[in-house]
Amino acid sequence: MQKADGFLEFKKITVLENTGQIHDIVKKMKCTKRAGMEFTMRIIEAAEVRERLTMPVCIELMKEALSKLEAGEAKQPLRSINPIPGGNLFGFMPAWLEDYFGAKVITAFHKNQGTKYPSHMGYVMMFDSVHGVPVGMADCSTITEIRTGAVSAAATSVLAKKDAGIAAIIGCGAQGRSHLEAIRCVRPIREVRCFDIRPEAAELFAKEQGEKYNLNVQTAASVEEAVRGADIICTLTPSKEPYLKAEWIAKGAHINAVGTFSPTTRELTSELIAASRLFADQVEAMEKEAGEYLIPLQEGLITRDHIVGSIGGVLNGKIQGRRDDQEITVFDALGLAIEDVICGRYLVCC
Ligand SMILES: NC(=O)c1ccc[n+]([C@@H]2O[C@H](COP(=O)([O-])OP(=O)(O)OC[C@H]3O[C@@H](n4cnc5c(N)ncnc54)[C@H](O)[C@@H]3O)[C@@H](O)[C@H]2O)c1
Repeated sequence: MQKADGFLEFKKITVLENTGQIHDIVKKMKCTKRAGMEFTMRIIEAAEVRERLTMPVCIELMKEALSKLEAGEAKQPLRSINPIPGGNLFGFMPAWLEDYFGAKVITAFHKNQGTKYPSHMGYVMMFDSVHGVPVGMADCSTITEIRTGAVSAAATSVLAKKDAGIAAIIGCGAQGRSHLEAIRCVRPIREVRCFDIRPEAAELFAKEQGEKYNLNVQTAASVEEAVRGADIICTLTPSKEPYLKAEWIAKGAHINAVGTFSPTTRELTSELIAASRLFADQVEAMEKEAGEYLIPLQEGLITRDHIVGSIGGVLNGKIQGRRDDQEITVFDALGLAIEDVICGRYLVCC
C-alpha cells in the first residue's frame, strides 16, 4: 500500500513458536524519486528463500561462486567481523559479481543456540552494477543456513570418495540439518551417526532426519564413536577447543570443518590437519582467518604450503581434488560473501 508520505507499507506476521504469540511487524520501504525516477526494492523473507533456494539449486550456485572467485570473475574484499557486547558478533561481508553486487549484513549471537532464535540473522542487500541502484534484500539467516551446507556439498562432490556412504554429523543444529540434506545430494549416504553436546538435540535430530529421509540415523555417545569408520565427517559446532582427533579418522575420509571461523578457534587438532590435505573456500581468507590452519602453523606442525588450494581451483581443473582412496581431505569453510551475494542475486534479481 502506497502512503501519502511516499513510503510503501507491508505487514509481516510472525508467530513465535515457543509462545504462540502473534507479532505484527510493519515494514516500510521508501519509494524514492530522483530525477523523475522511481526505485522499488524487493524484500525476500525467509519462507520465500526456503521455497526457491532449493538445495540442488544452491549447490550449483556455490560451484559457480567458488569457480568465478578463483577465476577472478567475482571479487570480494576481506570481510569485517566485529565483536559487540555480550560476546556476540556483527559482520559486514561485501562481494561483487559482474552484473550485481551486494553485502551480507549479519549478527551472530551464539547464546541463541538452544532457543527459538536463530544464531545468525540479517539480510543480503543487493545493488545493480550499472547505476548502483539498491534492488532489494533477502533474509540471510535462511541463505546462510542453506548455502553453508551447499558449499560443503560442492567441496564434498570433488573431495569425498565416490562411494562414500557413512556420514558423521557433529553438532545437531541448523547446520547439521543443512549438511545432511546437502551431502545426500552428492553422495549415496546410507548411514548417519550424529553427536551433540546436548544429547536431546542429537536424539531429536536422529528421529526427525531418519524419518524425513527414511535413513538409518543413529545417535553416538561420543565424537569418537560417531566418526570412527565414517567416510564423510561434518564438524558443525562453536566449540572453543579442538575435539576431532587424527587417530579416530579412517583412511580416505573427507571432513567438512565448518563450525569455527576465527584465527583462534578450531574443531580439528593440529595433528589431524597435519595428516590431511587441506582445502580452502578462499586461500587468502584461510591465511588470515582460519584457526584450523593458523594454529598448527604457529605450532610448527605444518608449513605455509600445506594449503593445497581452493575448491574453486579444483572445480576449474587447476588443482587436483582427491587423488586416491587413502588420503584424508579437509575442507575448511570460513563462509564467503560471494556465496551469499550469488544467492541474493538469484533471489532478488532473477
Ligand atoms: N563457516 C560458515 O560459513 C558457517 C556458516 C554458518 C554457521 N557456522 C557455524 O557453524 C556452527 C553451527 O551453526 P548452527 O547454525 O548449526 O548452530 P546451532 O546453534 O543451530 O547448532 C549448533 C549445535 O552444536 C552443538 N554443540 C555446541 N558445542 C558442541 C560441542 N563442543 N560438541 C558437540 N556439539 C556441540 C549445540 O548443542 C547445537 O546443537 C556455529 O559455530 C556457526 O557459527 C559457520
